[in-house]
Amino acid sequence: MLRIAIQKSGRLSDDSLKLIRECGISFISSSLKLKTESTNFPLEILFLRDDDIPGYVADGVADIGIVGQNVLVEEGMQHLTVEELGFSKCRLSLAVPKGDNYSSIEDLNGKNIATSYPNLLQSYLSERGVQANIHTISGSVEIAPSIGLADAICDIVSSGSTLISNGLKEVERVFKSQAVLIANKDLNAEKQEILEKLLFRIQSVQRAQR
Ligand code: PRP
Ligand code: ZN
Ligand code: MG
Repeated sequence: MLRIAIQKSGRLSDDSLKLIRECGISFISSSLKLKTESTNFPLEILFLRDDDIPGYVADGVADIGIVGQNVLVEEGMQHLTVEELGFSKCRLSLAVPKGDNYSSIEDLNGKNIATSYPNLLQSYLSERGVQANIHTISGSVEIAPSIGLADAICDIVSSGSTLISNGLKEVERVFKSQAVLIANKDLNAEKQEILEKLLFRIQSVQRAQR
């Protein structure tokens, strides 16, 4: 039996479940159960917070997982990547209040920036010689400017509607992301074989969609 971790709720959840179903893997899911087993493939599905998935896969609590590259690279876990999945595309962007006169990245010198991605943001700013104060918060980042917590934010943008609803405008693209399949480095032979079967099915699904 192979154990896969996917996001419990969020941008990746539906697409992750859809991919598993398109691979011909059946399972019964209820929004309250955090674990389910396939009825026709040796796969157990764990529903977790996306931020926890790389750590669980690295530790072997889950054998494989589906997670956004944004979370993976932020946590320094890129080496776990097995396959780019091409869905849940988004970007990590800097945004400021829409009425601000923003002309270049230098405008962020000395500013307070709220983000859940301090590492990705820090390397982007450092590469450009900008020094700002990074405030790490775990969610609802987009409200930070309107409550006086920060001058700017750095968060995930997909459709852009969260930015608009919060009176913000995107000013810099920091990182481009999509969903990836990750795997533990020390899978036993049995699990490795199941992973290969799964990968074969994923690749067929991807070919059919091209
Ligand atoms: C991101 C971000 C916004 C939303 C933006 O959250 O924090 O909440 O997506 O999407 P939009 O541009 O389509 O409005 P994410 O799904 O990554 O979930 P999480 O931060 O709760 O992990
Ligand atoms: Zn998250
Ligand atoms: Mg969010």
